[in-house]
Amino acid sequence: MSLLQDNPYRKDFPVVDQIINGKRLAYLDSAATTLKPLIVIDEIDKYYRQETSNVHRGLYWLSENATTKFEATRDKVSALINSPDRKQIIFTKGTTESINIVAQSYARHFLNEGDEILLSQMEHHSNIVPWQIVAEEKKLIIKVIPINLDGDILLDEYQKLLTPKVKLVSVVYVSNALGTINPVKQMIEAAHKVGAKVFVDAAQAIAHKKVDVQALDVDFLGFSGHKMFGPTGVGVLYAKEELLNQMPPYQGGGDMIDVVTFEKTTYNNLPHKFEAGTPSISAVIGLSKAVDYINKVGIDNIQKIEHELLEYGTKKLSSIPGLKIYGTAKEKASVISFGIEGIHPHDLATLIDKEGVAIRTGHHCAQPLMKFFGVPATCRASLSIYNNQADIDQLYDALIKVKSFFE
Ligand SMILES: Cc1ncc(COP(=O)(O)O)c(C=O)c1O
Repeated sequence: MSLLQDNPYRKDFPVVDQIINGKRLAYLDSAATTLKPLIVIDEIDKYYRQETSNVHRGLYWLSENATTKFEATRDKVSALINSPDRKQIIFTKGTTESINIVAQSYARHFLNEGDEILLSQMEHHSNIVPWQIVAEEKKLIIKVIPINLDGDILLDEYQKLLTPKVKLVSVVYVSNALGTINPVKQMIEAAHKVGAKVFVDAAQAIAHKKVDVQALDVDFLGFSGHKMFGPTGVGVLYAKEELLNQMPPYQGGGDMIDVVTFEKTTYNNLPHKFEAGTPSISAVIGLSKAVDYINKVGIDNIQKIEHELLEYGTKKLSSIPGLKIYGTAKEKASVISFGIEGIHPHDLATLIDKEGVAIRTGHHCAQPLMKFFGVPATCRASLSIYNNQADIDQLYDALIKVKSFFE
């Protein structure tokens, strides 16, 4: 029996085993947030039941235990992305905050009037708006890297945009709305040739492919715990050490200081300089187990099953008359965005919810991308390690049923 029929990972995720609206649940919205395996849930439960205390402060056992676990997560995340040093791993609230830190503490301080920032047409709003805020204040110019109708970045056009005026490129590794896997290594190399720094938004990449910051030679990279089987409320900013040393703190408060007087304050060492206040302790500790889970299953296995699901799902959905898939790049992660002629995506999603199918409908926080495709919204099925053939069949059957209502 194939992995798609008898998926051994499903038992690790309690949410999948549920009846919703009287139907078996088919959870197909992992790009919004992944489900959490039991080891993550248990770890958070344990922290609140037995191990609650603050970190980096107390000299008693509970606090030391929480601090040890908290810092162990940093080591695990550092190893996961092959960071040269653990101090280059900054815990944030999520990808959004990671981008905002770089916009405010790097771009706002080191870019000047007339400098250019390049973003691609397929960016998530969280990789557009933080740059616009700083661009408005500092009179920076944002230019857009175009894509084609398959959802691939036009590398020749990118190359043409790359002049010495470009000081920063910020690009998504894997598009949440299309699934496109961008050639970020090549893009980083090209950007460095004109002296530009690069931020890679790895929100959708981290749980689906190997992310190696040294192999990429990336300057900044961000991702969210909740999209990699971990809890909400925690994310990561990775950056090159020399950049983190140059950048001023993003927020002031406890933990990020060395000595405070009313006259002058000096700051803590990395990574604490960027971690003001009590962090999301349970989330960081839970994230450690999410990394363990990814390592246990193996990123190659994750990719293998997701690829099989993507192939099966694409073939099956493409057989529905009037269904159009948005995003047909050759290098693609397990996201299928689609629309059905004559049916509004919101009607579609609401009706298939009654069949137990959870998909995402809307602009996917990528309004400029929707505008490019000339649609207000798409439906999106996004697949992960716990999905199986039955989930896709259930989506297919639900779509056929809904379609029949409109005929
Ligand atoms: C590609 C991409 N970037 C950034 C984000 C923002 O992540 P978060 O809301 O966890 O900060 C998302 C979330 O959907 C995303 O898909």
